Amino acid sequence: MRLLVCGGAGFIGSNFVRIRVREFGDEVTVLDKLTYAGRRENLHDVAGEIRFVAGAIEDPIAVADAVTGCEAIVNFAAETHVDRSIAGPEAFLITNMQGTHVLLEAARERSLRYLQVSTDEVYGSIEEGSFTETSPLAPSSPYSATKTGADLLVSSYFHTYGLETVICRGSNSYGPYQYPEKLIPLMILNAFAGDRLPVYGDGRNVRNWLFVEDFGRGIGHVLAHGVPGEVYNCGGPDECENLTVVKRILELTGALESLIEYVTDRLGHDRRYSLSSQKLRALGWEAQVRFEAGLERTVNWYRDNERWWQPIRSGAYRDYYERHYSRALKG
Ligand code: NAD
Ligand code: DAU
Repeated sequence: MRLLVCGGAGFIGSNFVRIRVREFGDEVTVLDKLTYAGRRENLHDVAGEIRFVAGAIEDPIAVADAVTGCEAIVNFAAETHVDRSIAGPEAFLITNMQGTHVLLEAARERSLRYLQVSTDEVYGSIEEGSFTETSPLAPSSPYSATKTGADLLVSSYFHTYGLETVICRGSNSYGPYQYPEKLIPLMILNAFAGDRLPVYGDGRNVRNWLFVEDFGRGIGHVLAHGVPGEVYNCGGPDECENLTVVKRILELTGALESLIEYVTDRLGHDRRYSLSSQKLRALGWEAQVRFEAGLERTVNWYRDNERWWQPIRSGAYRDYYERHYSRALKG
């Protein structure tokens, strides 16, 4: 298949591109703005086999260039970090909503199949049980609100224009090439360095962990087999409290438990995410990697790939967060 993969230089997008090129022989064009989270290095091993266009999804000219010759659009491109969305929501509105609109228009003009990569966060937090695709949408952060807005826009293009859209909502992903602002890579790299491990609140928030290759294959499965107009949840096989994740990382890295530091909680922090993936399983997808094994693989990958993370562990992303977050708190 000839695919336009937007946001393909990011964490999940680059893992997806690798799977599609290597295992499916797809012809891939990546369109990526190369924000702080997007890096050409993430695609180093497939660089010669893909076309790369540096540009923004909210830019119709860049999109028109990139989409030429493609049969389908898969949209990973997004601002993705909840803390950054609390500090400054504007970029989230532009990329996650306006950018999605530009891509939908490009798909509509050319009658292309369109897959939107979405998140369990659109459903909000759940104390017990798991969200299904028909659960009410109740996002709680600017990040999840803009992802929800994008999902609704995608659905409207199916209902209004008959565009062949599908949405795949994943749970918390982890694995190689994840930017070290997210919980797991941040804790791994801090543990390697003997830096403090900042646990928000009481550390009892629960996330539903999905190994990145399982998510990539789930997205590919929805692309190939999903029914137009439908939404498919893609949840991980295991749930875990943050503190348990952090303690397991300490064991795997040999770092000391005294590095754990309880810090001020995230504003509006969702307590628990949990997805039912029954619908996607019925379509033939199954998660392959249990959290215990996936976490060990991830720690080993970061241990073996210092050349990948050393340049981005400068702390610049933390400066950004602290600057903007303190501004947001001051109001
Ligand atoms: P990421 O932050 O690692 O990568 C995002 C990519 O999008 C980067 O390459 C970035 O340069 C690019 N990008 C950002 N703004 C852009 C723009 N305006 N135009 C073009 N490219 C742009 O994100 P990720 O964790 O790989 O997430 C990918 C997608 O999956 C997102 O849509 C996210 O909402 C969704 N998702 C993520 C998770 C998770 O746990 N990480 C779980 C479920 C769903
Ligand atoms: O659920 C899917 C979502 O998962 C994706 O849609 C988002 O793009 C992705 O960023 C992720 O959101 P979370 O907010 O769940 O992930 P994060 O890694 O930021 O945080 C995971 C949990 O760990 C959360 O409860 C907050 C907590 N945390 C996070 C960081 C960065 C800490 O306790 N300390 C930290 O330093």
